[in-house]
Amino acid sequence: MRRPIIAGNWKMNKTVDEAVSIAVGLKRKFYTFSEADVVICPPFTALSKVHEQIVDSSIMLGAQDMYWEESGAFTGEISPGMLKDVGCRYVIAGHSERRNIFGETDEDVNKKLKIILKHGMIPIMCIGEQLEERDNGMTFEILEKQLTRDLKGFAKEQAARVIIAYEPIWAIGTGRTATPQQAQESHRYIRDFVERLYDRETSVKIRIQYGGSVKPDNIAQLMAQEDVDGALVGGASLDVNSFTEIVENAVK
Ligand code: PGA
Repeated sequence: MRRPIIAGNWKMNKTVDEAVSIAVGLKRKFYTFSEADVVICPPFTALSKVHEQIVDSSIMLGAQDMYWEESGAFTGEISPGMLKDVGCRYVIAGHSERRNIFGETDEDVNKKLKIILKHGMIPIMCIGEQLEERDNGMTFEILEKQLTRDLKGFAKEQAARVIIAYEPIWAIGTGRTATPQQAQESHRYIRDFVERLYDRETSVKIRIQYGGSVKPDNIAQLMAQEDVDGALVGGASLDVNSFTEIVENAVK
């Protein structure tokens, strides 16, 4: 009932030419594809050229971040309008690398989500616990805190449009995936908490992706879990074949 969504987060990788060549490869595979939403998030420098390649295909464009102001003296930043202008339909907000390396707070994420929605784009909001927090039994507490703060002030119609990406930080880029059961447990918790924040209808609608060392050989088991609606893929999205296999195995 919830449409699967597989997104590739390319992070700080690929020149424009390299990005275009991946886009061309993926377009061959997913020119028309109706079984899932397929999103790629190249670096800012490649967005425009990648968009030219995929514009007539079923693949959609996303950005990895942006600033919450519309325009002005914010050296180095990119506005939501600029992203929309180059064809972005999705924007990742609050990735753990933004939070941990660049000091992004839940208040920042909240402002970003608001303006992404205002511009008619879809936010992919990342939440997840550190290893130490998991080991101390704090996973659910962390998820609750992030959900409450990141979604603060949102009406249920707005919240239902947000894609939540559950990314346990200890599983990102480490080769250590959460087991399907661990993923399901957190996803269920997130969905139940969304029901507490809003209502059942919203919690049933909201899509929750898993992220953290997703690969062609573990995606099917993850997707088999009731509350896993897709994946946010880092490393394995940088190669046409592995990302293709992930998308194909996700909907098998
Ligand atoms: P990974 O990254 O697939 O390389 O673990 C996931 C992410 O950070 O979104």
